[in-house]
Order: sequence, then C-alpha cells, then structure tokens
Amino acid sequence: MSIQSTIKRKTAPDIRARKGGDPIVMLTSYHAHTASLVDRYCDVILVGDSLGNVMHGFETTVPVTLEMMILQGHAVMRGSQHALVVVDMPFGSYEASKEQAFHSAARILKETHCGAVKLEGGVRMAETIAFLTERGIPVMGHIGLTPQSINTLGTFKAQGREEGSWEPIEADARAVADAGAFSVVVEAVAEPLGRKITETIAIPTIGIGASAACDGQVLVLEDMLGLSARTPKFVKRYGELGPGIEAAIKGYAEEVRSRAFPGPEHVYGMKAKA
Ligand code: KIV
Repeated sequence: MSIQSTIKRKTAPDIRARKGGDPIVMLTSYHAHTASLVDRYCDVILVGDSLGNVMHGFETTVPVTLEMMILQGHAVMRGSQHALVVVDMPFGSYEASKEQAFHSAARILKETHCGAVKLEGGVRMAETIAFLTERGIPVMGHIGLTPQSINTLGTFKAQGREEGSWEPIEADARAVADAGAFSVVVEAVAEPLGRKITETIAIPTIGIGASAACDGQVLVLEDMLGLSARTPKFVKRYGELGPGIEAAIKGYAEEVRSRAFPGPEHVYGMKAKA
C-alpha cells in the first residue's frame, strides 16, 4: 500500500526556479515549536550550525557535531509541513573528501528526511558539491564570510570590502553554481559585490548582510527576535522578545516565592487541605 501525503513541501528545484522571481524568504529554526511558526511564512527553513552559538553557547560553530544537526533537523521536520528544510553540514563532516561528504549528507537526509544540505566553501568545495548533486543530494552553497573557517580567517569581518578583493569571492560564486548547487548563501560581503554576484550567476543568491538585491534573504531567528546577546551589525531586529520572556519568568518566580502560585483548584475545583 502506498501512502500519499496531501501536503506538498517545497523542493530544492522549486527554490532553484525562483531565480530573479519572487524573493525567497528563509529563517533558521532548530526546534519543532519555532519551526511550526516559521513554516507559515518562509519558503526555506535552515537548521543552521549557528545552533552551536544560539542553543549551546559556543563561541564558534566549530564544536557542532553531525549528531547535533541530525537531532535538531529531525525536530524541525516534525514541526514543519510546507517549507524546504535545509540542514547545515557541520565542520569536520565533509571537508576531508567527497566520499566523507556523501556519507555525512546521506545520514542527514536519511535520518532527518530534510530536503537539502548546506556546506561552506566555493572553489575548494566545487568538486564535492558536484559529487553530491550527481548522487541525489541537493546542495545549498555558502560563500563570503564562512564562519566554520574562523580559525584561519581570524575574524568575523565582512569580506570583499575593497573592489580589488572581489575576484576570489566571485570565483567562489561561479564555482558553486557551475558545480550544481541549487542556491547559495552569500554572507557579509560588500553590497555592490552581493549585487554583482546576484546579477551574474544562474542560481538564486540568499543574502545575509550582503545586498537587498539578492534573490532571497536569511536571518538567524533568535537574532531578529532580539533574543541573542550579541548580533552582527547588519541584523535588523523585528522583535524585542527578551524583556517579555524575562518578565514572565520573574512573575512566575515571584509568585512561587510569595506562595501566590495558583494551586490546581482553579482547574479541578478542589480546595487544598488546610
Ligand atoms: O548557521 C547558520 O545559521 C547560517 C546562516 C547564518 C546563513 O549558516
């Protein structure tokens, strides 16, 4: 017996077809509950390895493991129905060889049921991107500032600030597109460079601190909600949820401490024994 789902999720080819069309809306999520909210408004949900910073308090994304990505990727799939879910390949799970990348990406797809993976790197990862896409694994690229390389970059600064330094980043964009990626995140590059890349490559660009001219935009959910302690300068906050959450926790703690916490009688109609 075959089971047919009536809900159709967006696919990597659907997103690829949006080049130059309606802007692609993408946000991160790491949990089923936020995924169900993001799913109502976004085309793509990214289970980013930024979960290392946001959920676990690491300084960088380097300590994030494949198991962490699979656990949260599966949660996001359970919480969403419509968006394409893309799961980040964490540092150390794909750089050694294209075969290593295939095994890690296959685990992500099989164990989470997500629709695509994302990996960092341009020219240096082109052969791997081609190897994965030829074997049925849709890949989203990630160029410009690549946070997993923090230990060699030394800084999270924007890339390509001088026009003379654009060429390697443009070459990365071309390499990722030519290798068969269905889209590419362009992070923290000078605005005219983000615009130029978007105009010259055939796949959708998803900007984060890049250019409003990109084919889509992505932000880390907790950054745009005002829940992150530190956010990059380019992040626009669409909410200030931190103080509201703190007020609720404070109110609860005060009620418990002052014995004003309501007992179950207001639900079950029972009076606590004196
Ligand atoms: O890990 C992540 O959340 C990302 C986005 C910042 C693009 O890669």
